[in-house]
Amino acid sequence: MNKAEELVVQALKSAARDERMKHTVQQSTELYPLLWKAAKRYVTGEKRQDALRVAMECIGNDYQISLELLGENTADLLECQKAKDEFLQLIESMGASSMKQTVSFDLSHIGLSISAELAYQHLIELAQKAQQYEITLMISMEESSKTSDILDIYKKIANQYSNVGITLQVHLYRTEEDIQQLIQYPGKIRLVKGAFQELADVALKRSDELNERFLYYVEQLINANHPISIATHDEVLIQEMEQRQYFNQSNVEIEMLYGIRPDLIHQLKAKGYCCKVYLTYGREWYLYLCHRLAEYPENLFLAVADIINFKQVNTSNPLYGEYNFS
Ligand code: FDA
Repeated sequence: MNKAEELVVQALKSAARDERMKHTVQQSTELYPLLWKAAKRYVTGEKRQDALRVAMECIGNDYQISLELLGENTADLLECQKAKDEFLQLIESMGASSMKQTVSFDLSHIGLSISAELAYQHLIELAQKAQQYEITLMISMEESSKTSDILDIYKKIANQYSNVGITLQVHLYRTEEDIQQLIQYPGKIRLVKGAFQELADVALKRSDELNERFLYYVEQLINANHPISIATHDEVLIQEMEQRQYFNQSNVEIEMLYGIRPDLIHQLKAKGYCCKVYLTYGREWYLYLCHRLAEYPENLFLAVADIINFKQVNTSNPLYGEYNFS
């Protein structure tokens, strides 16, 4: 990555955490529709029905799916309850269609920004409803300042609800110890590199060392026969894991975000591996969009083209966000 790209990445990652900017974009009648054009590559739509429609299409094409109502850092009690109620509705809708799939969310969306107890109570409600329909819940991982709280809540519920899993960020140094503990619980572990900007004494940057750690943790989980979701778009890492035959294990799935490398997940599925697509919906896409642009600065070009409605975008381009099953 050259210096200019590095600067853009840092700027986008810090913009992602800027609550005031997020609020401005969400409330603005000018900025929201403009940036929504770019977000649509990565977000199925603003409504639950949009996500469920794409989910059906994915399932019809033999993909597994995760569904998330976007949102985080919700500091208003009523908004936390509204988010939790929407997740309950989502689980009901999935249950009504016999979709025994996954629902993902941030604990700070359903109460953690107010209190750990509120997040825990809401999580219990969701876990009970999900269990009723054989749906898995996956807790996302947020900034490192929240990791301990998130893991404590997970550990409190994990033995009672084996349908609840947890996401771990490989880039955090602490993950080496966390994984030893979490392997003792029955829930699925989703391994991701980590999307948040962290200090150098807390987390590793993208590097060969980070990839080595990723492989090491996957191997540990496979050896323990623990359910695992390998969530990455890194083709080199994926090739290495394929060579090591990690994807042939029945407890392993490969998970990618909607709109990112649909060509790659399509190839992996064609080889018979268990592949899952992570689908998001809702109006709170600001942070999610910032992360997707920061991870791959070339996406900024696509965002500009989307915003000015450049019609000649080649939809067969594998980077284009419309899921292409052909
Ligand atoms: P990396 O960022 O090293 O990129 C490797 C290659 O992958 C790139 O060179 C490019 O080819 C491709 N690529 C990656 N991102 C791309 C993009 N946006 N557009 C186009 N190509 C791209 N993070 C977190 O902190 N907490 C969480 O809970 C989650 N949850 C989560 C769930 C799922 C299912 C996934 C796939 C990812 C997450 N993440 C996450 C995000 C994760 O931490 C990470 O930021 C992204 O997956 C990008 O990292 P990669 O592993 O893809 O590799």
